[in-house]
Amino acid sequence: MRTEFAASLERAAAGEELTREDIINLLAAAPGAEEEALYRLADSVRARVAGDEVHLRGVIEFSNYCRRHCYYCGLRADNAKLQRYRLMPEEIIAAARRGAELGYGTIVLQSGEDPWYTGPMLAEIIREIKKLGVAVTLCVGERTRDEYAMWREAGADRYLLKHETANADLYARLHPGMSWQERLRCLQWLRELGYQVGSGNIIGLPGQTLADLADDLILLRQLDVEMAGLGPFIPHPATPLGGEPAGSLDLTYRVVATARLVIPYAHLPATTAVGTLAPNGRQLALQRGANVIMPNLTPTRYRADYQIYPNKICVNEGPEDCRHCLEGMVRALGRRLGRGPGHTLKPLPVQ
Ligand code: SAM
Ligand code: SF4
Ligand code: FES
Repeated sequence: MRTEFAASLERAAAGEELTREDIINLLAAAPGAEEEALYRLADSVRARVAGDEVHLRGVIEFSNYCRRHCYYCGLRADNAKLQRYRLMPEEIIAAARRGAELGYGTIVLQSGEDPWYTGPMLAEIIREIKKLGVAVTLCVGERTRDEYAMWREAGADRYLLKHETANADLYARLHPGMSWQERLRCLQWLRELGYQVGSGNIIGLPGQTLADLADDLILLRQLDVEMAGLGPFIPHPATPLGGEPAGSLDLTYRVVATARLVIPYAHLPATTAVGTLAPNGRQLALQRGANVIMPNLTPTRYRADYQIYPNKICVNEGPEDCRHCLEGMVRALGRRLGRGPGHTLKPLPVQ
């Protein structure tokens, strides 16, 4: 083991605040003994702060219309090949009801940035879903502060808005017409409004360095996030980045494991993207720091069209299939399904 890696790992094991240099050292863990030591430590911290429960958050991908042009995403407005769809409010509520029946404690409403759903429309949908006794997470992109406030008022508990990359230049190159400062301002509003805040980044974007990824984790620590989505870049042929290589799975595991050490109390999903790149990807992520899975609750006929990237898993399955599949996966790992809403892991402030 290289001495700088060992020293940073020791500081992490002692619970010290990791410097940028430490984080880079951990992200650079070499295959074999270094990676194994990193994963062991991340798994033990996960067990200590999150226990053995794996929370399932049922995701309803309710619209694939998007007004944005993110260079990596198949839902970008410019992708004319995509068959677009919108679920009507009754369909969204019915899918959420199915999720509650399947025992999911959280329903995630995700979509492209689609202003067709007005603030009051989404507020009404949130109110109906809250009657089911579940937590509601929104993941619908950048909207006004008033809309965020209206949805919080309607009962939304959490909001997921990935910062995508902490490198502002790289952000600018990949998001024409968007601004990194605006993104951070939205995250600030969400915090002020009392949401449990989730953010996160893409791993393996063209031109991204290990130092950029360290900055991602430092930003997540500064934002004091309750959850962080950390998934690999997967190229979509109908986007400007279609010819670029996918992000490395091993690097993704190292980022997830290091995240567990930098932001120990954050919920970390084993993402659908790791499951797409490797059949056992989500299992490995769960053994390397992750504690959440986000099963698909979208009605099967729409799933294939929510094509952020190609070959996404579960597009031919139904909600029940994913539920059973994941129960088996969690049990096989010697873990158990989470009960209840699975709110923040952060310790309560001392009175
Ligand atoms: N439109 C909302 C937004 O962007 O915040 C929510 C939905 S968007 C599809 C959810 C996430 O998908 C984004 O935050 C982005 O990180 C991820 N994503 C999009 N295209 C991707 C790709 N090709 N590879 C990996 N992740 C991707
Ligand atoms: Fe739209 Fe979100 Fe995809 Fe960007 S990442 S194009 S905002 S769906
Ligand atoms: Fe959908 Fe395994 S999670 S089939």
